Amino acid sequence: MQGEPTLQVPVKSGYESGPKPYAPACDRNRDPILAVLRRVLPERGQVLEIGSGTGQHAAYFSAALPHLHWLPSDLPSRLPGIAQWCDQSNSDKCLAPVAIDLLLASLSLPRSDAIVCINTVHIVAWAGVQNLFKAARDCLSPGQILYLYGPYRYADRPFEASNEEFDRWLTARDALSGVRDFDTVRDLAVSNAFDLCLDLPMPSNNRSLCFTRCED
Ligand SMILES: C[S@@+](CC[C@H](N)C(=O)[O-])C[C@H]1O[C@@H](n2cnc3c(N)ncnc32)[C@H](O)[C@@H]1O
Repeated sequence: MQGEPTLQVPVKSGYESGPKPYAPACDRNRDPILAVLRRVLPERGQVLEIGSGTGQHAAYFSAALPHLHWLPSDLPSRLPGIAQWCDQSNSDKCLAPVAIDLLLASLSLPRSDAIVCINTVHIVAWAGVQNLFKAARDCLSPGQILYLYGPYRYADRPFEASNEEFDRWLTARDALSGVRDFDTVRDLAVSNAFDLCLDLPMPSNNRSLCFTRCED
């Protein structure tokens, strides 16, 4: 990690409680993801999570990685649910969630020491993925990482049947969603001053991709 960490003070969110969102997949994938995060995240500082969803990962990872501050984010409609998970977590390192819409053309990300984005690259339109890398380039310093988790299509190996079915489901629901080509994402990363440092198989035909911000 390079440079001074930029921390926000942990605060209780003040969001009204409603039904607490829950995604069973988070319980299944959190430990395999955590094992990778332990390898790639810095020893201190602030992690920005993009597309935090229910907030389960933010609550779990912030409790498991108490040396880091965890800043969850998502579209505004998701923030109350995320805040409930964080408020009820065992962690005092989970910060109040912030609104971040990847489709904002002028996207600017809060200064952080690492960025984590789980299962969101195949949901948001490609313009949002482009905005993510462009804004991450400005947000991170050389040596810091952008971590992606999710399914990818590789040119040099068969597309897994489960991911093919998932891709059909995604694109039928929203033509701008879809499982991304690994090569296209890596090219986008390289064009934004990121090097691929890790590409690991994960359960259910997902991948952990880790990109390091390199010098301009
Ligand atoms: C499949 S969910 C993944 C949620 C969580 N990371 C997980 O793994 O359970 C995709 C997330 O992307 C978020 N999302 C969709 N469009 C977005 C956008 N334009 N900007 C930021 N997040 C977005 C959704 O609100 C949702 O939380």
